[in-house]
Amino acid sequence: MHDSLAVLLNGKQTASLRRTRSGRLELQYLDNSSSASLSISMKPRAKPHTGQVVSNWIDNLVPDDERLRSAWARDNRAASTAPFDLLATSIGEDCAGAVQFAPDAELSRLMSRGGTVDIVDESWIEARLAKLRNAADSWQNLDHSRLMYNIGGLQPKLGLHRLSDGRWAQPSGATPTTHILKPAPREEWPHLDLNEHLCLAAAGALGIASATTSYEHYGNESAVVVERFDRHCDNGTWRRLHAEDLCQALGLRPDQKVEHRGGPSISEIANLLRGNAATKEAGSRSVHRFGQALVLNWVIVGTDAHAKNYTLIHRPDGSVFLAPLYDVSSDLGHLRPLADIAELDAASMAMRMGDDYTIGSAASRNAWRGLAKALRANEDFLVDEAQRLISGFGDAVEAEISLLADDGLLRRGDQAYCGQMMTRIREWERHMAAMPVLRGRQAACSSGPSERTSAKKHSPAVQCNQRLPNGELCNRRLRHAVCPVHPTSPGSRQVQAR
Ligand SMILES: Nc1ncnc2c1ncn2[C@@H]1O[C@H](COP(=O)(O)OP(=O)(O)O)[C@@H](O)[C@H]1O
Ligand SMILES: [Mg+2]
Repeated sequence: MHDSLAVLLNGKQTASLRRTRSGRLELQYLDNSSSASLSISMKPRAKPHTGQVVSNWIDNLVPDDERLRSAWARDNRAASTAPFDLLATSIGEDCAGAVQFAPDAELSRLMSRGGTVDIVDESWIEARLAKLRNAADSWQNLDHSRLMYNIGGLQPKLGLHRLSDGRWAQPSGATPTTHILKPAPREEWPHLDLNEHLCLAAAGALGIASATTSYEHYGNESAVVVERFDRHCDNGTWRRLHAEDLCQALGLRPDQKVEHRGGPSISEIANLLRGNAATKEAGSRSVHRFGQALVLNWVIVGTDAHAKNYTLIHRPDGSVFLAPLYDVSSDLGHLRPLADIAELDAASMAMRMGDDYTIGSAASRNAWRGLAKALRANEDFLVDEAQRLISGFGDAVEAEISLLADDGLLRRGDQAYCGQMMTRIREWERHMAAMPVLRGRQAACSSGPSERTSAKKHSPAVQCNQRLPNGELCNRRLRHAVCPVHPTSPGSRQVQAR
């Protein structure tokens, strides 16, 4: 059993994590004058961070599901299911953000090993996805070999590295996973992968910074393929960008992710974003992005928008900004059984926007006054944004469905699902337009059927195509925003010209 782990940030040992005899955790920075911080909740300082804030931070790094932790502990020969013991195995080598863990004795091996990739083919991915879909404790490799990645959250996932020629590989060491493949859990939420892709693609099309996703098939399996925003390719070398979710940043336990269980309120999050931004303008941009995300989730009945579904990206100077949206799905797409409108109105959100947590209670003008106050934002902007998203969401989803159909990516079950989801979205659109906060504004802003965005106007993703020093082309896929690393590349210019 290990009692000390080296904590690496951007490939360099930054701190050490110690477990005392009593089981208490201590995190000691090696250089407290450095600006690079592991967390907003544990900034560099001379004395160690101890206790709950440390254990909460690592608890948030590993999956929530206890069955999954047990399977991981078994397959990776961890001493127990405690996050400390899980991170002491090979899964600690690739986590959210730029952090890596290694037992002290293995640190020099990890640092000198460099990175490796082990190519996998379509049938390997199909078999892995099939297993993941069907059992929550099945993240282990097919041959029970050790897992080399660790992604938190609730749903099963596959972390892989995509090479510039499009092939997939299992990475290790310095080479990170670049994508997350999330299949839909067959029993509970069939088509959740498609739902998530449609929501994120529509959010991106509506100008809200969102993770780039695609909907892909591997044999008989499908998954939403999410490009990681905490990885980037720098002159042909993949690097990790540091990031943490809001529960980590606030020192909270994973189960405090929703406000009514002790999670953060909207105003607490807005204050955190402003208080830790590089400049006043950068803070306002993050809060603006957060406000858009809240409005979007209200409009699409996104009830899962809790504190672990918002991430902060750390800059080298220790300041943070809000990452693009990820893990967005709409209850309008959960069609079993077809909930009626009253049920959707009563759906509970993860953060309180109105008198209570329900969608319906946030429909009053008063609620939006409160929201504007909590965000220190302009109330008219928020209401206009709600109007814009209500008018635009259905069209954007419809356009993405057309693109998927044109590309032959919708199988028979998918087509029926998309049809039902669109019917439900249109019904909800009409219902929302009549809500008190929006009544009277609809006529001015609505896009009637004749003005609806044509699917053909929606542009497919293009490749960045910046020539890299090693002669290869940057293969980042761009749809709505320029490449974050090569903003003047041919692909970025194409996106800008749209
Ligand atoms: N696009 C992304 N880039 C970087 N990290 C991500 C991305 N999407 C998800 N993650 C990380 O993986 C975790 C789990 O992913 P998420 O999609 O929220 O899964 P779940 O549906 O299980 O909650 C997130 O909390 C975040 O740390
Ligand atoms: Mg999540």
